[in-house]
Amino acid sequence: MTDFPPMQNDLLLRAARGEQVERPPMWVMRQAGRYLPEYHEAKGKNDFFAVCRNPELACTITLQPVLRYRNLLDAAIIFSDILVIPQAMGMTVEMIEHKGPSFPEPLRKPSDLEKLNPKVDVKKELGYVFDAISLTRRKLEGMVPLIGFSGAPWTLMSYMIEGGGSKMFIHVKTWVFKYPEESKRLLQMITDVVVEYCAEQVVAGAQGWALTMRLNQLIQIFDSWAGELSPSDFKIFSLPYLRQISQRLPEAIKARGCEPVPMTVFAKGAWYALDDLCDSGYNVVGLDWLHDPAEAAKIANGRVTLQGNMDPGALYGTRETITKEVERMIGGFGGGKKGYIVNLGHGITPLVDPEDMRWFLEEVKRVGSQTASG
Ligand code: CP3
Repeated sequence: MTDFPPMQNDLLLRAARGEQVERPPMWVMRQAGRYLPEYHEAKGKNDFFAVCRNPELACTITLQPVLRYRNLLDAAIIFSDILVIPQAMGMTVEMIEHKGPSFPEPLRKPSDLEKLNPKVDVKKELGYVFDAISLTRRKLEGMVPLIGFSGAPWTLMSYMIEGGGSKMFIHVKTWVFKYPEESKRLLQMITDVVVEYCAEQVVAGAQGWALTMRLNQLIQIFDSWAGELSPSDFKIFSLPYLRQISQRLPEAIKARGCEPVPMTVFAKGAWYALDDLCDSGYNVVGLDWLHDPAEAAKIANGRVTLQGNMDPGALYGTRETITKEVERMIGGFGGGKKGYIVNLGHGITPLVDPEDMRWFLEEVKRVGSQTASG
């Protein structure tokens, strides 16, 4: 482990732990990505996953939004993808320009499980992510915390079976309803890898020996396709594995000599599960824009920090609209001085004007710093 510079801005970590803060911290899902011209410049003609596997490039791209929106963003999120886990498990995943991820050989029948690597050595298969994290922690010079992440078991299983994005989810629904036991076997295999993968991300970003007590990172689990499950199936095929991760990850981190870090769960579309998610062992629950902020805050009732949730589409609106949406959001979350992290309800989309993103961040800082609203 190397010594990293001390943290200058730990607003995100304090808010995640439920402490009172001066203003709500902010970061944006997919903040490093296609809406930024410098992303396209750095990526050049490289294949997307080649960029993920290149720690120098991944680090450069991670830092881009933090440097462009200096003093506005309160966190960096490591540039990578949730689909590196299926790759580590032995599957081929390609990123097709203007189409998205594609698996040439998806899991179509239970016997395909035998094709997966039964014992994944995450340090060997995903060492490039850990190298990118260590490098980025050093280059950040303590400016802001670095968020690590993983896909959730249900979302990863869906990709591995569908073979890419989907509208009808025919294949994964076939598994869930025809092969529930094999589905659970796959979910368990993925969960085991996710726990190891997240623990190693924390180790890669941990401070030096004397400072291992410092919480310096945060891990977010993306269950982007949670909303495809019914409330009762969510309880069978997603929630138990999300809980396992929140229970086992702190132990896996401690076993590696580090202190556990705050954890966030973002289960997109699972509005019906908010109450359960508040009791699922995470410090932070991410919300998409289907939630009314005040209603979500009432359900959470101080059990967790909430994160979200402006419609990413609002960034295509006028400056006045963005301001109104920001005021409505932060007001709905009670002013945001406790138990709240500002974000969009999902990733920022590629056609957003980076200057409109800046306006959003500036307005969040202005509104979030006001004292009158609480
Ligand atoms: O800035 C950040 O948030 C960090 C980087 C990040 C990426 N993907 C980079 C990326 C993160 C956190 C992800 C997570 C991810 N990847 C999720 C969960 C979050 C979500 O959006 O629900 C999912 C579902 C994926 C899978 C994935 N990767 C898809 C569906 C696509 C194509 C469509 C799209 O929205 O971009 C990707 C590609 C991808 N991942 C790009 C980036 C910057 C675009 C690649 C390119 O064409 O240059």
